[in-house]
Amino acid sequence: MSNEPGKTRFQLDLRRHLRSQNICDNLIHLICEISEASKYVINAVRTGDLGVAGTSNLYGEQQLALDVLSDRILRKRLIHSGVVCNIASEEMETILQTQANSEGLYSVAYDPLDGSSLVDANLAIGTIISIFKGHDLLQEGKKQVAAMYILYGPRVSLVYSIGNGVHEFTMNQLMEFTLSKENIRLKPSGDIYAPGGLRKKYTPENEKFVKYLEDKGSKLRYSGGFVPDINQILIKGKGVFMYPALLGAPKGKLRLLFELNPMAFLVEQAGGAASNGKISILDIKPESLDHREPVYIGCCEEVRKAVELQAG
Ligand code: F6P
Repeated sequence: MSNEPGKTRFQLDLRRHLRSQNICDNLIHLICEISEASKYVINAVRTGDLGVAGTSNLYGEQQLALDVLSDRILRKRLIHSGVVCNIASEEMETILQTQANSEGLYSVAYDPLDGSSLVDANLAIGTIISIFKGHDLLQEGKKQVAAMYILYGPRVSLVYSIGNGVHEFTMNQLMEFTLSKENIRLKPSGDIYAPGGLRKKYTPENEKFVKYLEDKGSKLRYSGGFVPDINQILIKGKGVFMYPALLGAPKGKLRLLFELNPMAFLVEQAGGAASNGKISILDIKPESLDHREPVYIGCCEEVRKAVELQAG
């Protein structure tokens, strides 16, 4: 169909886009099921209870009613998809095996509502998903077959990669995800930066990195939500996000399985880089479900500089 002004613009939906990618039907089904689940999550975010659930997760963090509900929505959908054998959620303490035979099936690690503590202030948050073939979830991130996130902001968008570029879809008035940006690419270097964590706990190396960024004219763009902060870098095509080692927290805050692996996969697919200051995030073998790592992620030039400064 035509994209000329005045003519109806053909909007490619997520399923059709996935079908054009030459991937197996089970993976198409899985990604579409997750996109369907996100519609219930956004409904919960928009209208649900903002209170606490009275429980805490594996990390000792108080769970919000919304965390628990979003987790349940995704878990049910994944189980009912019939194509998932193992599930790990940031909100669950152990891996949930849904099918013993992993032949042709997938395992999924997800953070159902990353940044949920921002909901009361009405800021953007998101769902992050990492997908592996077979049953093993404790593999290096480079072995992911797909990664995606759904961003709940003023608009709802979905960004995915199956290892063939990064593509953004936006939810329309019918709650369908239609293609808004294909083959997102990062510039080699950019002038925005998002630094997580308490600055007074930064090591001298990380202080130097912030000074380097500011001296070269980078502007501070930090929302406190990992999904909107990474989305900004991908959609603007520039910038770097960091959540470094802190004094007293040498592994930083962010989790390899649920946050770093999927975002590193997406950013690398867009031509960027992600490192823990020494090696690529995607080369790290997780030791446990709650494995954390420091991270520098975004344009290659800034990530390279961060690694150089860590080496001293
Ligand atoms: O891991 C949850 C999270 O809210 C991320 O979304 C975000 O990047 C980070 O924590 C923010 O942490 P801090 O408030 O310490 O900068």
